[in-house]
Amino acid sequence: MTSDLSPIDKAKLAAASRAADLVEPGMKVGLGTGSTAAWLVHALGERVRDEGLRITAVPTSTRTAELARAAGIEVLGLDALRWLDLTIDGADEFDGQLNLIKGGGGALLHEKVVATASDRMVVIADASKQVETLGAFPLPVEVIPFGWQTTKTLVEEVLIGLDVLGRNAVLRMNGDAPFVTDEGNHILDLHLHRIGQPRQLSLVLNQIPGVVENGLFIDICDAVVIGYGDGRVELRDITAGTVEKARVALPERDNIFGDVSD
Ligand code: A5P
Repeated sequence: MTSDLSPIDKAKLAAASRAADLVEPGMKVGLGTGSTAAWLVHALGERVRDEGLRITAVPTSTRTAELARAAGIEVLGLDALRWLDLTIDGADEFDGQLNLIKGGGGALLHEKVVATASDRMVVIADASKQVETLGAFPLPVEVIPFGWQTTKTLVEEVLIGLDVLGRNAVLRMNGDAPFVTDEGNHILDLHLHRIGQPRQLSLVLNQIPGVVENGLFIDICDAVVIGYGDGRVELRDITAGTVEKARVALPERDNIFGDVSD
């Protein structure tokens, strides 16, 4: 039952349910990665099953691809579709301009490529993800395995001249081994505490040899759906300049979302 869910999970479910209604028949849709995106995949799967909704989806990770197939959603690669109508994804942080930190789940590279290849990107999040200034959440940076320690040193050196409060870069681990992304790379998590100039930081990081991409999404996101534990949702569209408040009925039923995990 949804009553078994924590308030944060209810908030994620509310945001995902509202965002699922933004998907129209025939759309080509990018599907994000993470626990909030997993709720979205389930909600879309329900529409496929109950309404006969027909969409084609490009998942941003192998985990999301598995979830989408299991939910009955047609899955294709980005090269098959080339351009998408809409991408819906979670975020680790978002600010007032809808600049994002993403990559907590390690899928930032595919997420950024897919979101950029979309007419519109909508983030779904619980209210705790909203921040005044980005940077409390460690910024993920995807680096190639070759020479990663040198890349880490270079990253820490360029941070000296930038508007951040910390410079510690930590190799993400998966047990005893370095975490490996879907592209076979590693992740450095940058503990910056405060990112004063996210656009500048993003540009500088991507100039460093060995860096593939960073988790700052600048001018990519168009709207955010913020969910609350009581079912309230707020859809803030910065492109249209609108704010819509509503309430989602959280369904009372057996927990079909039990397999949702980050
Ligand atoms: C995945 O790589 C991330 O960008 C996720 O979108 C982000 O970590 C949000 O995840 P949750 O929805 O699980 O909080």
